[in-house]
Amino acid sequence: MQLTVSGLRKSFSGQPALDDVSLTVASGELVALLGPSGSGKTTLLRTIAGLEQPDAGVVLFGDRDAATYRIQERGVGFVFQHYALFRHMRVEDNIAFGLRAQKSRRLPAHLIARRVGELLELVQLSGLEKRFPAQLSGGQRQRVALARALAIEPRVLLLDEPFGALDARVRKDLRRWLRDIHDRTGHTTVFVTHDQEEALELADRVVVMNGGRIEQAAGPDAIYDEPASPFVFSFIGDSSRLPVRIAQGRALFEGDDLDLDAGAMSEGEGHLFLRPEDMDMAQASGPGFPGRIVSMRRIGGMRRITLACGEAGHPVVFDVPAHRAFSLSQDLRLRICGGRMYLPSGGSFVAHRLKAHEVQDDRPPERSGNDA
Ligand SMILES: Nc1ncnc2c1ncn2[C@@H]1O[C@H](COP(=O)(O)OP(=O)(O)O)[C@@H](O)[C@H]1O
Ligand SMILES: [Mg+2]
Repeated sequence: MQLTVSGLRKSFSGQPALDDVSLTVASGELVALLGPSGSGKTTLLRTIAGLEQPDAGVVLFGDRDAATYRIQERGVGFVFQHYALFRHMRVEDNIAFGLRAQKSRRLPAHLIARRVGELLELVQLSGLEKRFPAQLSGGQRQRVALARALAIEPRVLLLDEPFGALDARVRKDLRRWLRDIHDRTGHTTVFVTHDQEEALELADRVVVMNGGRIEQAAGPDAIYDEPASPFVFSFIGDSSRLPVRIAQGRALFEGDDLDLDAGAMSEGEGHLFLRPEDMDMAQASGPGFPGRIVSMRRIGGMRRITLACGEAGHPVVFDVPAHRAFSLSQDLRLRICGGRMYLPSGGSFVAHRLKAHEVQDDRPPERSGNDA
C-alpha cells in the first residue's frame, strides 16, 4: 500500500516538530528516516500511525485519508526502540495479541495458532514460543516485537529505532535479517534510525530530517555522492569544509587558487565540502596549500590525519596509508582533487561538484607497432 504524507505540521508548545513535511513511500518500499535527535522522526512516525494529530496536512493510505479509519482499523504495525512486550505474556501470546484484539474480523483460534507458528518461523524463534520476555535476549525480544507488529498484516510497518538499544554486533545481524524479511513479506516500511550506516545499508531510499523538515529524500548513493545541502553532507560520512570564494572560474581559499575547475559556477562566497578521499598530499612544486597536523588516528589500514589549514586553522580530515610515518605538528602540503561547493542562494543552496583541472597532455597519441 502506498503511503503519502502531505504538508504535515505539528507543534508542541509553539515549537515546530514537523514543519511542512511531504513524502510518498511506494508500495513495498523500505524507507529510512535518518536525522539527529529531536529532528522530528518519532513525531512523523506517530502521526502516520494516528497516535498524534497533525496541526495541518494529511496522511493517505493509498488514496484514502488515514484519519477516516478508526484507530484499530488503521492497520499499522509499530515497533518501538524499547521492546514494549507484555511481560506477563508468553512469546506466543504476545504475537497473537493483535489478532485476538480484532473484534470485527477475529480469526478462529486454530487459525491464530497457525499464523503465530508461521510468524515464529519467519522471525526465527520457533521453539521459544512458551518463554516469557524476561527469558529472551534483547535481539530476540525485538524479533518478537516485529512478529507481533506483522501479525495483523499491517498496511504499513513503522519501526522507531528498533535496534537502538542493542549492541553493535546484534544490530548488524538484525539489520540484514530485517532487510531479508522485508524482501519476503513486501510491507511498505518506514524505519527510523539516527545511524547513517544502518540507513544507507538497509533502505531503498533515505530521508534525511533536520529541525522538523526533510532535507533530502534519495537513494543511498545519491545521499552520499550528491548531498542536497551542507547539513546532509556533514551528517553523512566524514567531512571537512573550507570557506571558498568563486571568482572568474577559479576556487580560492584565503586567496590561494585551489586549481579546481569552477568554470560552471556563478561567483560568490560559500563553502567547499570535502570527503577524506577528495584530498591528497601535494607535490612540492604542484598546486596545494600548507597545513599542520593537529591529530592522527588509526582507521583500519589507513591513518586519518586532521590538518589545521589557513590562517584560521580550518580542520581538514584526510587519509594516508598507515605505514607512512607522520608526527604531530608536522607541516604538510595538501592538494584538493575535488569536493562539493555550496553557494547560498535565496535561503537555499546551489551545489556543484568541483573537480581538479585535467592535466594537459600535449604529446601526440602513440602509434601502435603493428602497422610499422
Ligand atoms: N509529546 C511531546 N511534547 C512536547 N514536545 C515534544 C513531544 N514529542 C516531541 N516533542 C519535541 O518535538 C521535537 C521532535 O521530537 P521527536 O519527533 O521525538 O524527534 P526524534 O525522534 O527525531 O528524536 C523535539 O524538539 C521534541 O522535544
Ligand atoms: Mg525518536
